[in-house]
Amino acid sequence: MNPQQPENTHLKIKKKCSNLMPICVFIVVIAEIMFLGRLDILNNKSLVNSWADSFVQFTTLPWSSRNYSTFDDDDEGVGSGRVSRLEESSGSGECEKWLEKHDYIAYSRDFIKQPVYVAGVIEDLKSCCVGCKLGYLPKEKADASFGSAKADKEPTIVRSMESSKYYPDLNLSYARRKYDIIMTSSLSSDIPVGYFSWAEYDIMAPLQPKTENALAAAFISNCVSRNFRLEALEGLKKANITVDSYGACHRNRDGDVNKLETLKRYKFSLAFENSDEEDYVTEKYFQSLVAGAIPVVVGAPNIQDFAPLPGSILHIKEKGDIDSVAKTMTYLADNPDAYNQSLRWKFEGPSDSFKALIDMAAVHSSCRLCIHVATMMREKEEKTTERPCKCTQGLETVYHVYVRERGRFKMESIFIRSGNLTLKALESAVLLKFKSLNHVPVWKEERPKSLRGSDELKLYRVYPLGLTQREALYTFSFEGDDELKIHIEKNPCAKFEVIFV
Ligand SMILES: *[C@@H]1O[C@H](CO)[C@@H](O)[C@H](O)[C@H]1NC(C)=O
Ligand SMILES: *[C@@H]1O[C@H](CO)[C@@H](O)[C@H](O)[C@H]1NC(C)=O
Ligand SMILES: *[C@@H]1O[C@H](CO)[C@@H](O)[C@H](O)[C@H]1NC(C)=O
Ligand SMILES: *[C@@H]1O[C@H](CO)[C@@H](O)[C@H](O)[C@H]1NC(C)=O
Ligand SMILES: *[C@@H]1O[C@H](CO)[C@@H](O)[C@H](O)[C@H]1NC(C)=O
Repeated sequence: MNPQQPENTHLKIKKKCSNLMPICVFIVVIAEIMFLGRLDILNNKSLVNSWADSFVQFTTLPWSSRNYSTFDDDDEGVGSGRVSRLEESSGSGECEKWLEKHDYIAYSRDFIKQPVYVAGVIEDLKSCCVGCKLGYLPKEKADASFGSAKADKEPTIVRSMESSKYYPDLNLSYARRKYDIIMTSSLSSDIPVGYFSWAEYDIMAPLQPKTENALAAAFISNCVSRNFRLEALEGLKKANITVDSYGACHRNRDGDVNKLETLKRYKFSLAFENSDEEDYVTEKYFQSLVAGAIPVVVGAPNIQDFAPLPGSILHIKEKGDIDSVAKTMTYLADNPDAYNQSLRWKFEGPSDSFKALIDMAAVHSSCRLCIHVATMMREKEEKTTERPCKCTQGLETVYHVYVRERGRFKMESIFIRSGNLTLKALESAVLLKFKSLNHVPVWKEERPKSLRGSDELKLYRVYPLGLTQREALYTFSFEGDDELKIHIEKNPCAKFEVIFV
């Protein structure tokens, strides 16, 4: 089920920072003009300082390759040596001001002028928050390339939505030895390419009356598979679950129907995948959610991670579960209130955990790929650049840390004080920062209207940049303030990613 690639054009993707784009262009232009004007006003220190401050505060492109070093040399007191210990007598907030002015990297590449170029696929990508183009441009040096198209030692990419049970090359531990960037349905891959998205599935579609006599519908086209789905189907039938089968496997109904409309009339949908692989969850499952037919799943062992609410899906993990799942189905079918309770999420909305998962797809996987490549390039450059990353004043140290929303490229700068180095303080600094920027979550336009929430930002996760989505969403958390403290001390200019819900 590889996504079809259009074969005729390569596209240069328009950059979309956010819906504030016109403002950010405007400010950059102003900054540019002021930058040019700087030579004339260099002797007027107060003007220069106010320019520098306002630039730091307002620019939406802090990592542009503009060079500040002439300012530093000209600045009294701290000077060009980037000394990061201030006089104890300086006012409070001086360290923050000092870091804003002196702690930066003049990156060599501006991705607006020189977009990330990924070779080896042709794709119609509409917008991305980092300059990003995909195609075949023989004269241009690629920043990364698909498959074995590799020409110049650039990182290689593999992308597929298939199960590694059928395509062993896609097994993560194997693929990691062969490719630099992995894009599979696994949430442990570098850029997960799931079957889900708000755009593709009207997940919150209202329920329809359950008018069919049979309890469950099945659309299984192939009885052969590398798991026990056929036995599960037969087992449910033996346990007196009535199943209308529209697929080639055990067909008892005419298969020439609209699948989604058909599913809506059933209480249950047998979402039986052809392999039991972690995170391998296909349209069979998501269509059942759209239809409001409780999914009865054979497939991903961690399917509960994909449940809209706890108790909203049934999972046949192994053959031994068939009878108990059949009992539950019968019970729910005979008890309208209990059945309705399992579909509560359709009325009240799904959990934050589910939203955070589906929101990931609000940014196209190719755009996430470009963000990933651009981030790798920035990190490479950072390794060769010295910077203070902290500032000490008296007994207190101020740490300069960076944070961005998942799905975006641009890092925002925040400060954490050693006297208050706690998870709570980090979270509140993050919220304060994004509120001050009037930040609009990346999923805002993508989610169904009923799930867009208010304009309040709600923080769901904060995690070190570079974790996989499996870690970020399910397994990672700082074990208390001490662990955060160690992390920040060990990682100068630590970078975090956040998920809003
Ligand atoms: C920045 O300025 C320094 C000192 O003036 C210079 O050596 C360096 O090449 C400049 N870097 C860029 C990217 O312009
Ligand atoms: C990949 O293969 C290894 C070793 O055979 C196995 O332990 C692991 O579960 C496989 N990973 C996936 C995602 O199937
Ligand atoms: C299925 O239904 C038949 C006929 O009503 C009954 O004899 C049988 O015990 C039932 N089996 C189960 C597992 O409920
Ligand atoms: C199901 O529950 C929702 C609230 O969760 C309620 O609004 C709806 O009327 C119920 N439907 C039925 C058929 O009981
Ligand atoms: C530490 O940070 C928290 C959260 O921002 C804040 O409520 C608290 O007042 C701070 N404590 C100190 C001692 O600054």
